[in-house]
Amino acid sequence: MNVYDSEKLAGILTAYGYEKTENMDEADLVLCNTCSIRHKAEEKAFSFLGRFAREKKKRPHLITIMAGCVAQQEGKKAFKRLPHLDLVLGTQAFARLGAHLDDLAAGKRKIVDTAESEVIFEAMPDTTGSNESEISKFVTIMQGCENFCTYCVVPYVRGREKSRDPKAIVQEIEILARSGIKEVTLLGQNVNSYGGQDSDIGFPQLLELISQIEGIRRIRFATSHPKDLSPDLIRVMQDLDKVCAHLHLPVQSGSDKILKKMNRGYTRQTYLSRVSALKEACPDMALSTDIIVGFPSETHEDFMETMDLLDRVEFDSIFAFAYSDRSSAPAAKFPNQVDEKVKMERLNQLFAHQDICTEKKNKATIGRDLDVLVEGESLKPREGFVENYPDMNQMFGRSESNKIVHFPSDQAKIGDLVKIRIENAYPHSLWGQVVES
Ligand code: 5AD
Ligand code: SF4
Repeated sequence: MNVYDSEKLAGILTAYGYEKTENMDEADLVLCNTCSIRHKAEEKAFSFLGRFAREKKKRPHLITIMAGCVAQQEGKKAFKRLPHLDLVLGTQAFARLGAHLDDLAAGKRKIVDTAESEVIFEAMPDTTGSNESEISKFVTIMQGCENFCTYCVVPYVRGREKSRDPKAIVQEIEILARSGIKEVTLLGQNVNSYGGQDSDIGFPQLLELISQIEGIRRIRFATSHPKDLSPDLIRVMQDLDKVCAHLHLPVQSGSDKILKKMNRGYTRQTYLSRVSALKEACPDMALSTDIIVGFPSETHEDFMETMDLLDRVEFDSIFAFAYSDRSSAPAAKFPNQVDEKVKMERLNQLFAHQDICTEKKNKATIGRDLDVLVEGESLKPREGFVENYPDMNQMFGRSESNKIVHFPSDQAKIGDLVKIRIENAYPHSLWGQVVES
């Protein structure tokens, strides 16, 4: 989501005559789009922007901007740690960046804009011009979140849930398709609840509309909330060929006690039943998830329930995090905070456990034919490649299940969909040969 927002912000800067530079010493303006989901991300943003205090002494014309979630959360407090900042641009103020650039050009400094906005994305310039090697783009379909999970800052920094007009989404994707984009990933904190009061269609119908767009071959989306995984969505995932057989479905914990304290709105059993229904409808569905370990009051037994849930679901991959206190989120005040050392031990145990499953899942693809969307030439060909395949390139792409697949070819081009018979599986990728049709 932040990548998409950053692209949009870069688009506004380009429209105002700025160009990207690889050399920070050369920059006239530095914009840092920030994330506040965990303490570490927030600290990274402060320390990155902090570096420019000294630089500004040397080059006073240098403009420094903090944008995004940390900006929204801190407002004018950001100046306490970063007195040299020129603009604090909150999450709902992105569309007003242009007006602030005008003010900055007129000499105004220390601007803070954390005001709410009804319209964000539609008002922004089109930054869809893709370069030749790009085949995949993110498209935000909604913003904000009203789920109020007790550990999460998103509802406080991204505001209430708002869905974009379906016509504007389709139009944006049509432009992307015409510029050569083959795959779109629809983004939102909770895409399953797309629609609501803002649109007369829901998420399954939106997927139907997008899958009719010529040139788009694959549709992905993230993130889905387990409580909103409806039978309607499962049916659409089963019926629409372009919708990839991969679902990111954050579970966060396998313990009912912890899920309740997290305010997730489902139980372990509901999660498992929805996954079963999904697997029954789409047997090839790959699943990934997010997990938090060390949530306040998580005991060894609670953690073991999370480990057990991994065995039951058999995820293809997981993202896991140690619980991080966010002062604006209610869980920061919950009793029985877990020791940092215990959190790290649990995290390592969880990753080691998942590695076994990921390897098993990858190995299960050996001998199967997977459709791979070609993304380019592999950066590092495997050992012996040049000797074994002197007239070929080592290419790579992604399977529907989001696994990286490498293969030799002298014909495959970026953006092609090729069938690859898998011969070998590694922890992070697969290897195979093109199946001639
Ligand atoms: N501490 C740790 N992880 C968190 N996440 C969200 N908030 C926190 C927090 N306070 C994780 C959740 C979410 C992912 C994007 O980040 O797992 O799904
Ligand atoms: Fe945060 Fe929960 Fe909303 Fe996800 S669903 S963004 S974890 S509040």
